Amino acid sequence: MVKISITVDGERHEDEVEPRLLLVHYLRERLGKVGTVVGCDTSNCGACTVHLDGNSVKACSVLAVQADGGDVTTIEGLANGEWHPVQAAFKECHGLQCGYCTPGMIMAAVDLLANNPAPSEDEIREGLEGNLCRCTGYQNIVKAVQLAAEGGAR
Ligand code: FES
Ligand code: FES
Repeated sequence: MVKISITVDGERHEDEVEPRLLLVHYLRERLGKVGTVVGCDTSNCGACTVHLDGNSVKACSVLAVQADGGDVTTIEGLANGEWHPVQAAFKECHGLQCGYCTPGMIMAAVDLLANNPAPSEDEIREGLEGNLCRCTGYQNIVKAVQLAAEGGAR
């Protein structure tokens, strides 16, 4: 076992973990952050996307020990009393169907907009290409990101 110290959604956690434990499993099983979901076993789907030290990462491709000392934000930490503008935009534009991809899609979109506040449609599609939607709701997802970029969601 290895000692780790991670801040998750603003709370510090000191834990002992197996060196092979993936960050996504640490978040879900140890901390109960089940908004971060597992949609594949090949690091392809992006459903597990969280922010680590401000950058989006696939939590299934990071070991919990690699996040030691880091600052993680999950979908559950994104809203701060009220929905984050990207969450509100997804709701307004119907940017989700079954919702399975949505947490990861939103976390990736927030990172995208932090780095490019006024992305073109192509840039949005490129920025989200690591996140798969099995319901193929991409059109409304892109619209939602555009709306969030314009600051238009209520
Ligand atoms: S569960 Fe991480 S990319 Fe699919
Ligand atoms: S809304 Fe169903 S997988 Fe994207």
